Amino acid sequence: MHSRPLQRSDLPELVAMSRENMSGIILSSWGEEWKDEMLLELLLDDDVSTTVLLEDGDIIAYFCVEEMDEYVFISSFQVCKGWQGRGVGTQMLETIETSSRENGMAAIELCVQSTNEKAMEFYYYRGYDLMYQNGNNLVMRKKLV
Ligand SMILES: CC(C)(COP(=O)(O)OP(=O)(O)OC[C@H]1O[C@@H](n2cnc3c(N)ncnc32)[C@H](O)[C@@H]1OP(=O)(O)O)[C@@H](O)C(=O)NCCC(=O)NCCS
Repeated sequence: MHSRPLQRSDLPELVAMSRENMSGIILSSWGEEWKDEMLLELLLDDDVSTTVLLEDGDIIAYFCVEEMDEYVFISSFQVCKGWQGRGVGTQMLETIETSSRENGMAAIELCVQSTNEKAMEFYYYRGYDLMYQNGNNLVMRKKLV
């Protein structure tokens, strides 16, 4: 497995992966249809840094992070269906936490949709606490210091 920064040619695969993972969750938590363009806007945002993970040349996962004042915000975090439950998500969180600590950041924050229980548990067991609820999004945070 190796990782590299996002390339423009990755966009269709990343959008398809997220759509498959998230469209049901978006519908059940927000009551809205999945919109490819919302993710594309995020992936093309200059303030967002996206890392793609590959295995044998295939994209299996990716994450997006943004540096805020004193914390890092994870704005997208996806493992493709066939690779879930095999430690890839854990490895991605460790990568984000290590580089955030090295950059002197105090915490990591993220949002989970209120109906995404699997992801909520995943983050909870890795030290992320629920901070507050913003509509149907739950904001979670892990302190690094
Ligand atoms: C939520 C998500 C990111 C977690 O990533 P993942 O790669 O599936 O997670 P991991 O494999 O690291 O850990 C998941 C479980 O597998 C188990 N696991 C970890 N390593 C394992 C391994 N090598 N072999 C088998 N199982 C393993 C862990 O026990 C863990 O269980 P737990 O969360 O109950 O403790 C992923 O399932 C996903 O992309 N889901 C859909 C998109 C999504 O909801 N994204 C988050 C949006 S906020």
